Amino acid sequence: MGILTTLTRMWLLRSFRPFTFQADSGECPPEAMEGMTPGLYVHIPFCRTLCNFCPYCKVRYSRELCERYLQALHQEIELVAKVQGTSRQRASSLYFGGGSPALAAEHLGGLITTLQSHFDITDGIGLELHPDDVTVPILQTLKAAGVTRVSIGIQSFQEKFQRLLGRKPVNPQAMAHALQCVPFETVSMDFIFALPGQTAEDLRRDAEQAFDCGANHVAIYPFIQFSFTESRTPIMPKAAKRRLLDEVTDFFSATGCHRDSIWTFARNEGHRYSSMSRDNFLGFGCSATTLSRHQFRINTFSVEEYCRRLDEGRLPTSLRLDFTVRQRMVYWIFWKIYTTRLPLVEFEQFFGVPLMRVFGREIQLAKWLGFVTEADGILQLTRKGVFYFHHYENYYTLAYIDKMWGLMRETPFPQRLTL
Ligand SMILES: C[S@@+](CC[C@H](N)C(=O)[O-])C[C@H]1O[C@@H](n2cnc3c(N)ncnc32)[C@H](O)[C@@H]1O
Ligand code: SF4
Repeated sequence: MGILTTLTRMWLLRSFRPFTFQADSGECPPEAMEGMTPGLYVHIPFCRTLCNFCPYCKVRYSRELCERYLQALHQEIELVAKVQGTSRQRASSLYFGGGSPALAAEHLGGLITTLQSHFDITDGIGLELHPDDVTVPILQTLKAAGVTRVSIGIQSFQEKFQRLLGRKPVNPQAMAHALQCVPFETVSMDFIFALPGQTAEDLRRDAEQAFDCGANHVAIYPFIQFSFTESRTPIMPKAAKRRLLDEVTDFFSATGCHRDSIWTFARNEGHRYSSMSRDNFLGFGCSATTLSRHQFRINTFSVEEYCRRLDEGRLPTSLRLDFTVRQRMVYWIFWKIYTTRLPLVEFEQFFGVPLMRVFGREIQLAKWLGFVTEADGILQLTRKGVFYFHHYENYYTLAYIDKMWGLMRETPFPQRLTL
């Protein structure tokens, strides 16, 4: 598996050089994002209980630790904003992820105000919600703070899968009532795809229940077995996964939904929820990442160390990668194609050179294999391309993300990481 990602990397980068992340002392400021419109991301790592399949950076909630963490978040925002310049910068969107950010609901208004004093957020504010937090008072607090989109981690409405994942039952009636009383522009619901024994009928029932509860956007994330999580869930074989994905895609197209990324389907174009597919973003909080023109930075995963660095007036950056131009191009293409479409002009605007001049042969091969088509200057992933992107993404996640997060969970400030 590692060999596949390594060979692909060498071929695309025309280099044996791996991705090498250096330790960062927190004294070197992030690259300024002049002339760009970054997305903003804030990580809130607290959960009431910890799910054994979940790879994200999270700790059990305590009021005291959460308050200390929020104070450190304000400090990080101020430090980063100072580097970004004195004038208020345009930012596309703001997303709160976790963890379960609503555990800090009463403090989010303050964070949003601090961010808005430095950034003009033009495209709304999104937040990940645990089903336990879908109540009228919490939704009212979030809406009053400025949240416009929510994404609820249902995982499955069905008891057999809830039991498998160790999740509590969800009450769809209570959820529908709360979402009706406090509406949001986008209500997305997350489900896990390719659980053992899962059928297209299971997923169809989940999606219908989601729409009945008030969702207008659905995400179905393929189950990934991370090496450092405790769960040991059997993986669905490749052919069964492909069949299931095709059946689910048919169901969403038949209901008039539009695919807005590999794993997400929207009731219409206006309903969006995505914190990932941005050309540039600034991340705040532990485990948050920052992507600029030439750099990728990742913060420490340790809540304690995060707060300590900020108390010392230093940034909580743990590792930093300085991209070569070609590495940056490959990274850009990966996330753009995640949305299933790549407008050629956007590559040229970003890198100042036509995509076909740099990756002409790879694009021709992808067309020949039936992974993409081209029309009106847009490369569009085909259904076959979607499946193979997913298949490759699984390898990539295990070879890169699993290795990076596995290390970062153990070591707050590693010396070096080579991927
Ligand atoms: C941070 S969690 C969601 C917010 C909230 N904490 C919750 O549990 O509802 C983000 C999403 O990642 C997905 N996820 C978590 N672990 C996963 C895994 N091992 N494989 C695939 N998706 C996973 C789940 O669908 C989850 O809703
Ligand atoms: S799935 Fe959600 S609630 Fe469960 S541990 Fe992960 S972030 Fe926390």
